[in-house]
Amino acid sequence: MGAISRQSVSTVACSDPQLEAALTYALSNPGKQLRSKLCRETAAMIAGRALHSAERAGEAVEFLHTYSLIHDDLPSMDDDDLRRGQPTLHKQFDEATAILVGDGLQALAFEWIVDTPELGADQQVQLIKLLSHSVGFDGMVGGQAMDIAAEGGSVDVTHLEQVHARKTGALIVAAVMAGAICAGATTAQETALTIFAKRVGLAFQVMDDVLDVTATSEELGKTAGKDIDAEKSTYVGSMGVDAARAYADRLLQEALDALSSFGAAAGELKQIGQAMVHRSS
Ligand code: IPE
Ligand code: IPE
Ligand code: MG
Ligand code: MG
Ligand code: MG
Repeated sequence: MGAISRQSVSTVACSDPQLEAALTYALSNPGKQLRSKLCRETAAMIAGRALHSAERAGEAVEFLHTYSLIHDDLPSMDDDDLRRGQPTLHKQFDEATAILVGDGLQALAFEWIVDTPELGADQQVQLIKLLSHSVGFDGMVGGQAMDIAAEGGSVDVTHLEQVHARKTGALIVAAVMAGAICAGATTAQETALTIFAKRVGLAFQVMDDVLDVTATSEELGKTAGKDIDAEKSTYVGSMGVDAARAYADRLLQEALDALSSFGAAAGELKQIGQAMVHRSS
């Protein structure tokens, strides 16, 4: 999937020039797009061919993810100046605009699902339920609140796993399960995919914690070393870099094992899983 350009969301009218410029800015630099790849490849694995509906659902997930990053970077949250190698949205524009672009992207994600005619009404409802839950109080938003509450303290690994599963894992699980919904997966397939997505989603955030201390800001496109500065509770803080890396590898192996019943058709999805853990940015 290519980047989702401002042109491709041309049905969206932005009545304010600053909001328009900020939306264009946010969409012009899409990041790794891992979540849309997960959605697309999950659907292709099950259906045996590429599905346009999964492309659209993946884009909706990317809108939600981009919204979460814009808000995550705000001064009242992680207070970051750099994102995807460029000034964060509130630095380039202002805080009010960053809040509004995030809010607008969240709304757009759901509009995007409803504006996908290949999806039946029942699939649209399932997707809206899945995605709204994944970013809501028991998902990303809840995890972000737990992440902030854990700053400056020491939380045990069980608690940390809950934080990471919500703030990051929930949307990764939703990306995979959205692909499953688009392709009409069976209950058995959904069970296997849920295990894969939970393990790989947690491993992804464990590696985000690792990279914060092992990579440079240039490599990451975001400021390295921020977790220690902000006294975040991370896997590196609780077990050290080497053990955190080993834990991520163990989770990845469990994730890949969960795909065994799909046989060779799972090749692409396995590769994405590997790239999510063995990465440099
Ligand atoms: C960053 O996600 C935020 C986390 C959940 C750790 P990504 O590393 O997928 O960010 P982009 O989309 O590639 O910028
Ligand atoms: C981000 O976690 C989680 C969400 C955006 C929901 P982080 O705060 O660790 O992500 P980065 O390191 O800023 O990308
Ligand atoms: Mg954060
Ligand atoms: Mg952050
Ligand atoms: Mg981080």
